[in-house]
Amino acid sequence: MKGEILKLLKESDGYLSGQELCERFGVSRTAVWKVINQLKEEGYEIEAIRNKGYILKSVSDVLSKEELESSLKTRWAGKEIHYFDRTDSTNIQARLAGEAGASHGTLAVAEIQDGGRGRRGRNWISPAGVGVWMSLLLRPEISPVSASMLTLVMALAAQKGIKEATGIESQIKWPNDLVLNKKKICGILTEMGTEFMEIKYVVIGTGINVNQEEFPEELRKTATSLYLETGKKYHRSRIIERILEALEEYYGIFVKTEDMSALLEEYNEKLVNQGQEVCVLDPKGEYRGLCQGITKTGGLLVELSDGTVTEVISGEVSV
Ligand code: BTN
Repeated sequence: MKGEILKLLKESDGYLSGQELCERFGVSRTAVWKVINQLKEEGYEIEAIRNKGYILKSVSDVLSKEELESSLKTRWAGKEIHYFDRTDSTNIQARLAGEAGASHGTLAVAEIQDGGRGRRGRNWISPAGVGVWMSLLLRPEISPVSASMLTLVMALAAQKGIKEATGIESQIKWPNDLVLNKKKICGILTEMGTEFMEIKYVVIGTGINVNQEEFPEELRKTATSLYLETGKKYHRSRIIERILEALEEYYGIFVKTEDMSALLEEYNEKLVNQGQEVCVLDPKGEYRGLCQGITKTGGLLVELSDGTVTEVISGEVSV
């Protein structure tokens, strides 16, 4: 009932009559009043006027299943939400949900992760109240070879979702980081489960630094938050909603060809290193070259000093 009342409050142009709410849900006025009080405690500013009813005045940065469900306008992304006040890692929770049969588009989201994981075995610091820590379970009917490109698809969606929710234009650092003023604001970790050469599920975990006011000393040079770069705090739920909407759109385009051909131009426009010198962090040794954008299979084209062009398939680049 809480989620539904919240949705009605959001959709209502004027006051929502307490009596109508009682009749609709078949409960007493006290029961409705209790729900309204719970919502107030969570951060919703709700005005109650005698003989008129309730009106939603403003919402603070609430991250909850009800908040997401009452605003999400997607067809399948986030239609099932597993919300955790605290968990080890949303990637683990999305995988467990996937193994238990959860459907395509199930979202695991947490306020705090105790064991947030990054790429290359790194930790992902995920404190309370300041970030988006979420993982989307997908069941794509594509070849496992194409699955790694889903990370690039999510990078596009995260870039667009952040732009639409906050107005902030971040850039993509190949393959799947988002940067703002050259510092990282978002990282993506994709994990896959296969059986007999078929994809069982793909989990795309996305971490976004939204409202952090500071970072540990060792991260200050490389990481930042939307707040630190703009001086403004943002609503994490709005960011999640816009990202899921963008993901539905890009995913629909991607699965038609199972490659980046239709998204390549947009991805390259958003690449932070496009046309600039980059350092390729190859395990066999670092080398420098000119970044020429991605190919339709998601590799990065780099022009070397002798004029030859090489495609970097995996790894990382730095400026
Ligand atoms: C990176 O190293 O850049 C990837 C970071 C991915 C972090 C996100 S936060 C939500 C999800 N759960 C995790 O444990 N990791 C991902």
